[in-house]
Amino acid sequence: MLAITTPSFGAPEVLTIAEVETPRPMPGEVLVRVRATALNRADLLQRRGLYPPPKGATDILGLEMAGEVAEVGEGVGGVANGDRVMALLPGGGYAQYVPVPAGMLMKLPDSMTFAQGAAIPEAFLTAYLNLFPIGRLSPGETVLVHAGASGVGTSAIQLIRLAGARSIVTAGSESKIERCLALGAEAGWNYHDGSFRSFVEEQTAGEGVNVIFDFIGAPYFADNLASLAVDGRLIIIGTMGGTQVEDINLGMLLSRRLEVIGTALRSRSLATKIELTAAFQTFAGDALARGEIAPVIDSVFDWKDVQEAHRYMESNKNVGKIVLAVD
Ligand SMILES: NC(=O)c1ccc[n+]([C@@H]2O[C@H](COP(=O)([O-])OP(=O)(O)OC[C@H]3O[C@@H](n4cnc5c(N)ncnc54)[C@H](OP(=O)(O)O)[C@@H]3O)[C@@H](O)[C@H]2O)c1
Repeated sequence: MLAITTPSFGAPEVLTIAEVETPRPMPGEVLVRVRATALNRADLLQRRGLYPPPKGATDILGLEMAGEVAEVGEGVGGVANGDRVMALLPGGGYAQYVPVPAGMLMKLPDSMTFAQGAAIPEAFLTAYLNLFPIGRLSPGETVLVHAGASGVGTSAIQLIRLAGARSIVTAGSESKIERCLALGAEAGWNYHDGSFRSFVEEQTAGEGVNVIFDFIGAPYFADNLASLAVDGRLIIIGTMGGTQVEDINLGMLLSRRLEVIGTALRSRSLATKIELTAAFQTFAGDALARGEIAPVIDSVFDWKDVQEAHRYMESNKNVGKIVLAVD
């Protein structure tokens, strides 16, 4: 089969389409003919050699895909060749074929294209995991979503709406904020206008937010703690702005009973990911099939243009997901 390989680590130019061995499904797995995959920030880091795949995973990039079942492995029932599916992967999505444990498969709703299916697993499962099992979000609570127009951010805004909770966002431009409002966010703050602290105070009548979805890390840490309500949960999902924090007063963690939680999806066990996939489908499967929530797709690149797609993500211009159509 053909796959996008990384013969060396570095800039987008290292990404090369090459012939590699076609994988076979192990017992309990199905082989999927990939029709679309999507980019994630983790791909950029892995390409640069800064984020090795988990033990046992392929070194081919690609954390999600949608396609058609091409071969059903031993011991798998309820799945047939030709079924349209989508799944989260530990790697291997940038290829024509990928083996997937049967429990990780989600049915691709008939109303959705492969490009839409490829844009769902990583962003929506990350958002679901961190809002509900980890964030314990309740109806009526308020979430501050940083990088609101990101793939994970746009998914979170929609799941928060579906749960009957409120979201407010930060983003780097007015047009990104407009897109977030259209998805259901109640208000947005352009971080180029300064700290978001007074914005959160205004939006919550001084109470603070119950949950913060943070991808930025160190530069936002102090303002995040100051923006949480009593019993608030700060969930650190990414550190795009830096990791080193200095001069933080931990007193408010105690007085306001705050939780600071670091989280990662890729390194979790297969059993946990299967459980998460099932819980997400129970919560959001019907809403996805009815179009009440949908992946936000910024652009679809032919996979031969993967270098350009990586450069585009690095430019921070996307709203929602960048998809690769796989021949
Ligand atoms: N922990 C996990 O399990 C997990 C899983 C999936 C993703 N993630 C992380 O979640 C984050 C979002 O991923 P994604 O794929 O949804 O990203 P994405 O769609 O590429 O969006 C990222 C956006 O973040 C904003 N941004 C980037 N650097 C920034 C900075 N220094 N300060 C403020 N905003 C910045 C940019 O938008 P603006 O124009 O608004 O600045 C950028 O477009 C990444 O950090 C990713 O690694 C973590």
